[in-house]
Order: sequence, then C-alpha cells, then structure tokens
Amino acid sequence: MAIKFKINREPVTVDVPADTPLLWVIRDDIGFTGTKFGCGIGLCGACTVHVNGRATRACITPVSSVENTVVTTIEGLAENGHPLLETWVEAQTPQCGYCQPGQIMQAAAMLRDFPDPTDEQIDQVMSGNLCRCMAYIRIREAIRMAAGRLRAAAPQGNDEDREASHA
Ligand code: FES
Ligand code: FES
Repeated sequence: MAIKFKINREPVTVDVPADTPLLWVIRDDIGFTGTKFGCGIGLCGACTVHVNGRATRACITPVSSVENTVVTTIEGLAENGHPLLETWVEAQTPQCGYCQPGQIMQAAAMLRDFPDPTDEQIDQVMSGNLCRCMAYIRIREAIRMAAGRLRAAAPQGNDEDREASHA
C-alpha cells in the first residue's frame, strides 16, 4: 500500500503493509535512525516523534494512520534549530544517550502546551519517558533553559504547525 506523508519537511511515499509500525518505516525504509526502539509496546517513550506537532509513539503507530500528515523526528528538530538541542548539551543531560531523542521530542511537544512549565508539569508530562540512567534532574534543567530561550524569542509560530496546516 502506497502511503504519502511529509517527514522532516520532505514528502515521502512508502509502499509497505498498512499496519507496519511507523518506527520501522522511519528507521528502515526512510533511514532516519535517531528515533530509537525501546519497549515496542508504547511504554518507554524512546520512539517518540511528532505527528502534526504532537508527541506520538512511533512503535505503536501504524504507518497508514500518518497518511497526509507531517512527521518530525529528532533529525528534523535539529535541522529546525530547536533550543532543546543546545540546552541538552549545555546541561550535560545524556548519560548513555539511548532514551534522549525520545525525551527531547516529548519535551519539545510539551513546550507548546506549557511555555513556562513548572517542575510539576515537567515531571508529569515527562514521566512516561523512561531513562535507565536516571538523568531526570538534568532533563528538567535542560527543558527549563530551553523554555526560557523560546519565550525570549519572538513568538512567530512554529515550523511544524505551519507545515501541518499545508500537509
Ligand atoms: S519503543 Fe515505543 S514506547 Fe518504547
Ligand atoms: S541517558 Fe541512558 S537511558 Fe536515558
């Protein structure tokens, strides 16, 4: 089945069974390997990407459900120059690093809903993204730093929102 969508601003068409997990399509068919496989059952958050700007677990998302949407992976977020990529480094957030692309994607989606998040809001939203290295304190710090930078920047909308409206 041919399925069309945009990923990291580029239109793609994949010809795979409709129930193929989006994660496999992103990694194996399209070649963006920044998105990680952890549990495969929607519990750890390692595979988090954005679909029309919303945090989505790619391991349990059939690719047919993203037809005509805009998908963004950690590679796309980095290309867009999201401040989380800088603050993650500045706060020395990663330890092994495996969970981190999913953490960053979840955090980026959260900052749309909570531009000035409290620690409680950060903990609540991020609690579904597991980190075996227990980097949670540094994750929180990097999110707070990025939130401040986003608020300081002119509020001119969001690349993914604009793209989604033209998907
Ligand atoms: S690999 Fe998708 S939630 Fe764990
Ligand atoms: S940094 Fe190792 S699992 Fe999170």
